[in-house]
Amino acid sequence: MNMQIRLLTETDLDAVLDIQHQCYPAAWLEARATFARKLALSPQSNWIALDDAGAVGYFFTHPWAGNGLPALDEARLTLPAQAHAHFLHDLAVHPRARGRGVAARLVAQALAWGVAQGLAEARLVAVLGAECFWRGLGFTAQAERDARLAAYGADAIVMQRALSPP
Ligand SMILES: CC(C)(COP(=O)(O)OP(=O)(O)OC[C@H]1O[C@@H](n2cnc3c(N)ncnc32)[C@H](O)[C@@H]1OP(=O)(O)O)[C@@H](O)C(=O)NCCC(=O)NCCS
Repeated sequence: MNMQIRLLTETDLDAVLDIQHQCYPAAWLEARATFARKLALSPQSNWIALDDAGAVGYFFTHPWAGNGLPALDEARLTLPAQAHAHFLHDLAVHPRARGRGVAARLVAQALAWGVAQGLAEARLVAVLGAECFWRGLGFTAQAERDARLAAYGADAIVMQRALSPP
């Protein structure tokens, strides 16, 4: 089956909400307005994957600074003046399309963007047991415990990977 990845736009948000609903517990669902804010914040660093039947996955990311974490469902997120990191906020693939490399392709696309922006590292919060998935893509677990980490769930863990030009 064909698969393509392109920049995500506001017209994709219905599909994003549907995929999110299929992938996360109800307590974690972010509102449409939150996704729209993330798009407005950094319009060039969010992607959607589509196959012949429609949207199958999405990835929201944005530049970031320091070791802290953005709060989940942050209402007033702003970009740092001096970004050195690429924060990988939310990666989700619809259950019907898993195991086909959709997530790996979305991550490759995003990290290439981070490298092109000159960002030195990528960081994320792994949840729902996804630590193993991220390890496979070269990320390592960090000991840091940001106060905001608790909101991501009991098994949430900060992970990081250096970004270097190919
Ligand atoms: C985690 C998730 C994004 C993976 O999507 P996917 O498209 O099925 O992943 P891919 O097919 O690209 O898999 C890439 C590699 O990771 C491995 N992998 C996939 N899911 C994995 C998991 N949960 N644990 C360990 N490894 C995993 C695959 O086996 C593959 O390895 P390979 O290249 O050696 O074959 C998807 O399961 C998902 O949306 N889960 C719910 C939301 C979530 O947990 N998001 C991440 C939060 S941090």
